[in-house]
Amino acid sequence: MKDNFSIVYEGWKPEKQKLREALCTLGNGYIATRGAAEESRSDDVNYPGTYLAGGFNRAKTELSGKMIENEDFVNFPNWLCLNFRAEGGAWLNLHSQKILAYRQRLDMKCGILMREFRVEDEDGRITAITSKRIVSMRDKHIAVIHWSLTPENWSGKIEFRSGLDGNVINDNVARYRELENRHLEPQGTEKIDDNAIFLFVSTRQSRIFMAQAARTSLYHNESEMSPVITTNQREGYIEQVLRVELEEGKTYTLEKVVGIYTSRDRAISEPGVEAKKSIKRAGRFEEISFRHEEALKTLWNRADIGIINGDSNQQLLRLHIFHLLQTVSTNIIGMDVGVPSRGLHGEGYRGHIFWDELYIFPFLNLRFPDLTRSLLMYRYYRIEEARFAAKEDGKKGAMYPWQSGSNGREETQVVHLNPQSGNWIPDNTHLQRHINSAIAYNIWNYYLTTEDQQFLSYFGAEMFLSIAQFWESMTSYNEEKDRYEIHGVVGPDEYHTSYPDSDQLGLNNNAYTNVMAAWVMQKALHIVEIIEKSRRRELMKELHIQETDLELWQDISTKMYVPFIEEDIIAQFEGYEKLDEFPWEEYRNKYENIHRLDRVLENEGDSPNRYKASKQADVLMLFYLFTKTEIQRIFKNLGIEYSEEMVSKSIAYYRERTSHGSTLSRVVFSWILLKYDQQQSWDNFETVLISDFEDIQGGTTPEGIHLGAMAGSLDLVQRAFLGLEVGEEALWIDPPMLDHLKKISLRVQYRRHWIAVSLDDKKLTITFETGWKNEVKIGVKGKIFEFKLGEVREFLLN
Ligand code: BGC
Repeated sequence: MKDNFSIVYEGWKPEKQKLREALCTLGNGYIATRGAAEESRSDDVNYPGTYLAGGFNRAKTELSGKMIENEDFVNFPNWLCLNFRAEGGAWLNLHSQKILAYRQRLDMKCGILMREFRVEDEDGRITAITSKRIVSMRDKHIAVIHWSLTPENWSGKIEFRSGLDGNVINDNVARYRELENRHLEPQGTEKIDDNAIFLFVSTRQSRIFMAQAARTSLYHNESEMSPVITTNQREGYIEQVLRVELEEGKTYTLEKVVGIYTSRDRAISEPGVEAKKSIKRAGRFEEISFRHEEALKTLWNRADIGIINGDSNQQLLRLHIFHLLQTVSTNIIGMDVGVPSRGLHGEGYRGHIFWDELYIFPFLNLRFPDLTRSLLMYRYYRIEEARFAAKEDGKKGAMYPWQSGSNGREETQVVHLNPQSGNWIPDNTHLQRHINSAIAYNIWNYYLTTEDQQFLSYFGAEMFLSIAQFWESMTSYNEEKDRYEIHGVVGPDEYHTSYPDSDQLGLNNNAYTNVMAAWVMQKALHIVEIIEKSRRRELMKELHIQETDLELWQDISTKMYVPFIEEDIIAQFEGYEKLDEFPWEEYRNKYENIHRLDRVLENEGDSPNRYKASKQADVLMLFYLFTKTEIQRIFKNLGIEYSEEMVSKSIAYYRERTSHGSTLSRVVFSWILLKYDQQQSWDNFETVLISDFEDIQGGTTPEGIHLGAMAGSLDLVQRAFLGLEVGEEALWIDPPMLDHLKKISLRVQYRRHWIAVSLDDKKLTITFETGWKNEVKIGVKGKIFEFKLGEVREFLLN
């Protein structure tokens, strides 16, 4: 049987290296390092990047006489640096030396990155190396490299060089190269003792101090060798060179144990003290790896999803689970960090936090609710900044930024570079106010899955009601229509940021934004009802909410305007129908890749604002986020008749007009097409599965994975293909009849009960494994059953 827990790359392929590095990133939620070779440096082929959760720094650049500031995701010191050379020879370099064999393997079950290779140097000396690397999931401050090295046809002196390099810049994304990319300032280096070194740096503006300590030891037959060691240091860099005599055919082991601490850590005296202490206590590779594997076992036990439909699909699903856990693991519970949309895997989108949580939390809620809570707190801690932003904009409540980083101010870049034309273009995507509804949606769904009343009534309600206040102040009443409207926004489809030939930014009545705002109002009223009365009084007072506001919310939630193109087709925004049709065929023939139509058109002096062409699902998000019952209810409230025809016609309309310039888009299409066209739904799902693995956008994955799409694929299996739905009174499971998936098995946590579910083409088996209470309600095909602890039930499917 094929090993579905590994990704194996045969052969050294320089042109694929940066993609492999992103996909072989090892992390533990706290810190992550790309899967670059230990001996590599940043160049055209390699990019060894190390990122810290929440590790941002701001820097200014002058562009055409204008100062702009960006907040970047800092590439922290490279702790990998490890190399060797035989006496008189050159340092190991895969670019210039003869590679006799090369194999790289990411073992996702054990969280180990392995490289096995044989090289021949200029003097014909052949050396075999097996390298193993771990970023510990248990001891989040510890990482370790293990090399086994065999001189196959030579004996003699060898030198190992083991370093810590703080002289790194942010250079992962070519488009950002004209911008200031120096973010670190050296603070000192130190030889701790004969085989241990220390590096101290800080970020230049945000003053995050990072300490790295490394201990390098050599062994033969398990006994420690006594190499001659020299320490070299210069500003921002320190290394130790270990010299020793090797004998032909024997295998030697080198271990480099690294401890990493920052000034943002909890329970520390000072990062340097802790880093030095940590490498003394960490033990050897075997010990670290044992603890690490145990921690991963626990995570896999909660998070794994088994499917039967081709080995590669199973493998890719696990790759997605793995990278989700490398980015946000239980290690970050309680830390002040959010979910970076590109993982901790690269510098794309500068580590910023967008609305992608919408695709990520449904998976986390059902397995790691404490983690979701912690990630929601990232938003709560930034509510003051959101209040300030709303006030500055003349609005009430809290207006969360489209892109969020360190302190919650708007981090969307002011201008971005179109690599196709070389032009710097104003970026108006910050007008995506729908991010606010996404946060509200996430709060509500976390509550629904966990029944965490403490969270909802305290932090959750404060954020939720502040967002409702914001929407209230965003709406204006249109007497003629007798409807409320929202003007000057951008929907999820970022291609449309204004009307053609208009100087005014934003669009009016983006259907998705309007319906979501109406939903927020409805839910806010419900939350006010269900929270404890004294808390309700407190909140109304603190947030200055009057009874008349509640009445207004009620009114808005029933009278929000939703534009239609013609009966049954929802318009993406008011006036969408007046735009020109886009000549898709012509452009598909003209360009190899038209995912990023915005860039293609700008390069031609044109703009997507003129066309009926969308980057990603926009209106259709509504049918992705809400269950049929829920969306029917929302529409009914709005006085709009919901019909299957409306859904299917809207799907057909936008399906032909979407370029899928965001990997998120396919997730939504797979979901909404399931009922109408299983083959198409499945094709979209498989595209999501290969998005990063095959880098289908041609060059984006080396700049970081697409976490929303990765987690979205997992959510598709549970919510779409298994038919799982978190309800108020029960956890519902209503599997559709599937043509493609033969088997699904997974475990979920619903309101503190662990439930195992497995599905094959004949039956659905549900086991109530363990939980805080002795009963749990599970609904199958419309009927609710009360499961007792330990109970297993089978449901035959026909
Ligand atoms: C998409 C956004 C997404 C962002 C980060 C953009 O390309 O259009 O919807 O939030 O990437 O993943």
